[in-house]
Amino acid sequence: MAWAQSATTAIPNDLQSYWLPFTANRAFKASPRLIARAKGMHYYTPEGRAVLDGTAGLWCINAGHNRDPIVAAISTQAAELDYAPAFQFAHPKAFELASRVAALAPGELDHVFFTNSGSEAVDTALKIALAYHNVRGEGARTRLIGRERGYHGVGFGGISVGGIVNNRKFFGPLLAGVDHLPSTYNRERQAFSKGEPDWGAHLADDLERIVALHDASTIAAVIVEPMAGSTGVLPPPKGYLQRLRAICDKYGLLLIFDEVITGFGRLGCAFAAERYGVDPDMIIFAKGITSGTVPMGGVIVRKSIHDAFMRGPEHGIELFHGYTYSAHPLACAAGLAALDLYHAEGLFERARSLEPFWADAAMMLKGLPGVLDIRTVGLTAGIDLAAQPDAVGRRGYEAMQRAFQDESLVVRVTGDTLALTPPLIVSEHEIGEIFDKVARVIRAVA
Ligand SMILES: Cc1ncc(COP(=O)(O)O)c(C=O)c1O
Repeated sequence: MAWAQSATTAIPNDLQSYWLPFTANRAFKASPRLIARAKGMHYYTPEGRAVLDGTAGLWCINAGHNRDPIVAAISTQAAELDYAPAFQFAHPKAFELASRVAALAPGELDHVFFTNSGSEAVDTALKIALAYHNVRGEGARTRLIGRERGYHGVGFGGISVGGIVNNRKFFGPLLAGVDHLPSTYNRERQAFSKGEPDWGAHLADDLERIVALHDASTIAAVIVEPMAGSTGVLPPPKGYLQRLRAICDKYGLLLIFDEVITGFGRLGCAFAAERYGVDPDMIIFAKGITSGTVPMGGVIVRKSIHDAFMRGPEHGIELFHGYTYSAHPLACAAGLAALDLYHAEGLFERARSLEPFWADAAMMLKGLPGVLDIRTVGLTAGIDLAAQPDAVGRRGYEAMQRAFQDESLVVRVTGDTLALTPPLIVSEHEIGEIFDKVARVIRAVA
């Protein structure tokens, strides 16, 4: 990419006005990490320095950056139809993309409701769950069950069922009637597991306790990430999701998989539901649907849930919910092009076949100073570093900063946990490069 390496971009001279999301703003503005261009596996800084993308953007650029077919589809679409009203009207590509997404989903999940982000998709799924029970005459089913350490975006619904304390504690009482399953993670029992840990399936049985406490007749749905990503890559214990499904079936609870991260190849399948052979009632997706190029999310819904709404007078709206930009034409065009690219290049299969190599490479970091645990599944890895005394998160922050400045690598950090999730086009050579860089960073911050 000689053009990108040599090109330079104007650097903004005023960093004041922009309030960055989920960012240490003062530290950023003191030492900004600016990205101006990208291609394939790399970003380029405004000065033209190539930086390896170890995190597929924010777990979303599954096909790699600025892929020509997606870029072309977006620009063609912008010239053809910029926007059509999403309520009471539609454009052809919305139907085409919904059919394509439904075809990738397991079982009877065959209707797709589009949103603009994962957070909106989470709130949409929770609302559909509540309304579904309501229209069936079981309106007392209003409780929602999430899980400790779960991340379901930042809407009030999502932070209520989510289980990450800093995302919740500043924002008041949140939704009423929410309970949480315990996290599936136990370092003593699971440390340095490749893939799904052997220990922990029984933690699903805690749902029985929650049902006994509240009664099934008050519970609408259970929502989990099949693999908890944002909290630091926690693969599900073997058999855990199957057990959760069985208990939900026993009590008539809907099971919602939040596949915002795990969807579109991250775990070697279209959806993690397929990897684990468990059919949820709804799948939430976002990120990889457009390979991160245009904001889009959505919910894939079981036929029987959708059909329960299809009653009353034909001119009547069945679900009072939606967004101005649901199924935006640019997002649909990007989504269709991304799905074509995933298929043409076999990227889901590629992720599956690279998984053992990836896991072995990640585990080479075991034994480096301060490395407490490493977890891998699909093309993801979480690396827990020991926190500095009285400064939780500082070592992780320094690792992220050093990776970018000294090693030209983007890593994701939550607290003192590093997460790696490269684009699915990553080569074995680049996997080696990623972990060599991470090893140097870990030594440097030890
Ligand atoms: C599992 C999960 N759900 C929901 C979201 C929220 O998506 P968004 O940031 O697009 O709102 C994320 C984002 O990382 C996620 O990982």
